[in-house]
Amino acid sequence: MAEQPFGIDFGGTGIKGAPVDLALGDFAAERERFRTPEKSTPDSVAQIFVDLLAKFPDCQGPVGVTVPGVVRHGVVHSAANIDKAWIGTDADALFTKATGRDVHVVNDADAAGLAEVRYGAAKGRRGLVIVTTLGTGIGSAMVNDGVLVPNSELGHLQIDGHDAESRAANSARTREDLSWEHWAKRLTTYYRTLEMLFSPDLFVVGGGVSKESDAFLPLLDLETEIIPAQLRNKAGVVGAALYATESG
Ligand code: BGC
Repeated sequence: MAEQPFGIDFGGTGIKGAPVDLALGDFAAERERFRTPEKSTPDSVAQIFVDLLAKFPDCQGPVGVTVPGVVRHGVVHSAANIDKAWIGTDADALFTKATGRDVHVVNDADAAGLAEVRYGAAKGRRGLVIVTTLGTGIGSAMVNDGVLVPNSELGHLQIDGHDAESRAANSARTREDLSWEHWAKRLTTYYRTLEMLFSPDLFVVGGGVSKESDAFLPLLDLETEIIPAQLRNKAGVVGAALYATESG
């Protein structure tokens, strides 16, 4: 286990982490979860990472961390749904210093996308795969022939004068108490816009609501094949660990 990578999924409610077996694309030990602090500034989150890693003293490999924002070369550049203190933070440097480990930060949807393409729903698929995560916001990963184009941020496309995620994220469905049919109409508008812009070969739909995909994916009216993600709530941790290993 010593050199196995460790993945951390930093989300709005929980911070989850586990050592990852990259041959299997799965956790190598049972994951641990901490509650995300109310004010989840970079410094408060760094302290939780220290506590989380301390639970796995035998795992000393590189550490990958997902962040729900734009990440370029370890620096966070946006914070749509997290504390604004993240903007401009060199998260790679901060977490490496706090934990004494080799830490690499990656956008949350990009991590999920890497994991789905390598191990999950889009395994073995050629061409352009667009993985979207439907949660509080909409995350996106564009992976062409297995190569990630990072920070695509397709949740923030302007559609009919609205930031797309404010209408089509799962949070909009619950906030506005939309029926599956009504939400599916909004999703159709959203994915049709992606089709027009990118002509993808495959859409993969992740995020917590993807476990209920039978209720809404069949209602979408699209040209492109669209399938649910497979790694479910493991995608962030597995993808982060993969990213850390391949960035090291
Ligand atoms: C953020 C993205 C993130 C997505 C899902 C969006 O609001 O801008 O960076 O991937 O939410 O968390």
